[in-house]
Amino acid sequence: MSKKESSMWGGRFSEPTDEFVQSFTASVSFDQRLAAADIDGSLAHARMLQRVGVLSAEELDSIESGLAQVKNEIDAGQFEWSVELEDVHMNVEARLTQLIGDAGKKLHTGRSRNDQVATDIRLYLREQITDCLQLIRNFQNGLLNLAEQEVDTILPGFTHLQAAQPVTFGHHLLAWFEMLERDHGRLTDCRSRMNQMPLGAAALAGTSYPLDRHYTAELLDFDLPCRNSIDAVADRDFAIEFCSAAAICMTHLSRMAEELVMWSSAQFNFIELPDRYCTGSSIMPQKKNPDVPELVRGKSGRTNGNLITLLTLMKSQPLAYNKDNQEDKEPLFDSLDTLIGSLRAFADMVPNLKANRDTMYRAAKLGYTTATDLADYLVNRGLAFRDAHEVVGKAVAYAISQDKDLSDCSLDELQQFDARIEDDVFELLSLEGSVAARKVLGGTAPQQVRQQIKACRELIS
Ligand code: ARG
Repeated sequence: MSKKESSMWGGRFSEPTDEFVQSFTASVSFDQRLAAADIDGSLAHARMLQRVGVLSAEELDSIESGLAQVKNEIDAGQFEWSVELEDVHMNVEARLTQLIGDAGKKLHTGRSRNDQVATDIRLYLREQITDCLQLIRNFQNGLLNLAEQEVDTILPGFTHLQAAQPVTFGHHLLAWFEMLERDHGRLTDCRSRMNQMPLGAAALAGTSYPLDRHYTAELLDFDLPCRNSIDAVADRDFAIEFCSAAAICMTHLSRMAEELVMWSSAQFNFIELPDRYCTGSSIMPQKKNPDVPELVRGKSGRTNGNLITLLTLMKSQPLAYNKDNQEDKEPLFDSLDTLIGSLRAFADMVPNLKANRDTMYRAAKLGYTTATDLADYLVNRGLAFRDAHEVVGKAVAYAISQDKDLSDCSLDELQQFDARIEDDVFELLSLEGSVAARKVLGGTAPQQVRQQIKACRELIS
């Protein structure tokens, strides 16, 4: 057993930990990213200990300046992380004690690594979620700007990936806005539910020291101390909830990615992605590959995997803390990194895409996308919708046999299917007429989309 380690918990051991076991059980290689949160938690704990009389003012002073130095060393990349010291908590504490002596050994009074790590993750995750929320807002703002530019742009709307009805591109972009709005809500919820402080739970049962948990919670900006000490150290719901919200958000980004990839192909040619988000091919000179959306689509697999990892990690654990929990960090951090990177890329890439308006328009004219409008027209002239559907089906079959669009048929031709059809039908069979008619709340008409953009702006301002 190394000297460092024995000073932390080696009292009752008679042989050193196996060297392999030491590295197998260590988490310092990945939990060192909790260092800043760990130090913040320790500072608040120490201030509270002094306030309730467990530490003297001098001891607190030296803990504060010692931790400041530890933080400087870490920030400067000069900190010597040691696997023998297992995790971030013991690394920081050991260095503190090396720097300030006995006062450092008192920092852990009334605390366990169990409540310490649960607190650190919450502090860290809380801040990272704030970053995610900001990125989502940036992305949403960019979408609203693009939607405003493309409010009159018409493209085919699809169901079953078959051309269904013409829609405006601004309207489609607002659908993406809504997906992100729910992600924002989920992450906000997750952040507020996790904002309770485990410190004071100690190993699991609480502590006999007269800790003022409300004071520590206030210093760390937690809403409250966790109510139950056993749950405080056993719970990892916040990590599961975050990974779940992240997986859903990545699923949204992946669906957008799929459309971006299709739309930027030569066959669709609806959009042009900014060059700085694409790469070329080493063999085919003509290629411009949509690597970033493809990668984001692929990365959604990771966030799904991480969610399942955490659910499986927790599902059979007896209360309270178990070492299994050390396995929570890598999936959590990976989901965070994946989500933040993907949002960052999309928030800049998507609002800067160029819409090929003419191609979109021509595509919307294919596939009889205004057939529903003809049926609605007949309904307005007294036909029951089911009968109108039948009539229009026949008209479409005729137009297909003539290899032309409904709007290119003559009035005579259309009147063969129903005598109620008159000259005013052509206005409705046009793409512009079709979208303009859908001005119901939430619909695709440019006039309606303008109002929706305004409402969305207010929502996120
Ligand atoms: N590295 C540990 C973790 O991530 C810290 C808590 C360890 N507590 C313990 N009693 N072994 O979960």
